[in-house]
Amino acid sequence: MDPKVEFAAWTKLVPESEIRRLLKFRAKYYFAGGKPGVLPIGAFPMILNTLALKELEDIFLGKDDVIEDYNYGPTDGLPEVKKVMANILRERDSIDLDSEEGWNNVIITTGSQQAIYLLLDTLLNPDDLVVVPAPAYLGFVNVVTKFRGQVIAVPGDNQGMIPENVSKAIKIAENKLGKKPKLIYVVPDSDNPSGTTMPESRRKALLDVAKDNSIYLLEDAAYREIQFRGKRLMPIRAFDDGSTVIYMRTTSKEVAVLRVAYSLMPPEIRKEVVKAKGYNDLCTPTIVQKIVKLYYEKYFSQFIDKVRKGYKKRYEAMAKAMNEEFPEGERTDPTGGFFIWWESSNKKFDSKKFLEEVAIPNEILYVPGQAFYPLRGYLYDPERGDLIDASNRPANAMRLSYSYMEPGKIEEGIRKLGSLLKKYL
Ligand SMILES: Cc1ncc(COP(=O)(O)O)c(C=O)c1O
Repeated sequence: MDPKVEFAAWTKLVPESEIRRLLKFRAKYYFAGGKPGVLPIGAFPMILNTLALKELEDIFLGKDDVIEDYNYGPTDGLPEVKKVMANILRERDSIDLDSEEGWNNVIITTGSQQAIYLLLDTLLNPDDLVVVPAPAYLGFVNVVTKFRGQVIAVPGDNQGMIPENVSKAIKIAENKLGKKPKLIYVVPDSDNPSGTTMPESRRKALLDVAKDNSIYLLEDAAYREIQFRGKRLMPIRAFDDGSTVIYMRTTSKEVAVLRVAYSLMPPEIRKEVVKAKGYNDLCTPTIVQKIVKLYYEKYFSQFIDKVRKGYKKRYEAMAKAMNEEFPEGERTDPTGGFFIWWESSNKKFDSKKFLEEVAIPNEILYVPGQAFYPLRGYLYDPERGDLIDASNRPANAMRLSYSYMEPGKIEEGIRKLGSLLKKYL
């Protein structure tokens, strides 16, 4: 007999990630997922060569430590890798980590997506509340839903989340829903998907909101190093004593998609997240952590400017073509990161329908805006000063990624998309 088993409830609640789904389509012009297209590929053969020579030498000398490169390691990462990442956090982010013992606080995870997943697994019971920007990174929002949590999405402006509105949304949640959110999620440097960067005053004010309410703040700093216009701002974590902010960084955008990320968390959360990781993947692959260590030690400072400049050129190509060819609407103007968010002035425009009917047949891919709004939960409406049902998802926006294609191709594809949009609208 065939199995007759009902699957877990979440399988019906959460659809496949829109970004993953779109990867299946062949496209000449790929503006969908945030795939890095400027990678320091010259460094990796050198690193692999160095590692290989060291292993050969050890084998030749009869040392038995090579086997450890291909073995299980500590759940929270190799100490020598945590030390290198602690230096980055100290030197590049001005985070006050003890120079002797501070490295112990770093957690290495298999991508920051795993860190997000384990954090939410640690914090959420069904119907617990989490505050996110509207729109927000779907890899965060949909995981909240997967754990049966409820999102309160708070719209911002061209400088990201508005702390005052976050504070109001928290108060309303307390009055109307009888509980406080447990966490505020934010990407202060070049948000995904909106591309906005928060000024320092807002960073501090948002930390105050979290502290006043005695809740955690997750600072997702995925695009921390990909800042190519203006001054790099201090991360929120640098203003905290380490008790409120969970700080996540990743190699994915600043190096390559090695599935290695590095986080700092308040000690009580850290303990549970590492426990959860022990049941999730046991450890992040040892040999890959060794590649990461060598990269940051020997190549990071040499390559990061080139990487940043590469993305700047791509951003400029996209922004110029949009300014010249797109129909009436508004776009964000990122200081870095991978994305531009565009909203049509025509509120009836359905960007998902346009994607399926026009863009995909013309070999153009982007992510429709709806994918970044919650499936369950609430949307804070600043005009009414109230929480409304999250199913009111605006359909007239799209997220365009400039990270993957060469500037020439970006210009060509965006011009084509612009003229198709003009015809359609
Ligand atoms: C804001 C944000 N956070 C986290 C991630 C996940 O990154 P990682 O590759 O480290 O899992 C992404 C990837 O696109 C992202 O954009």
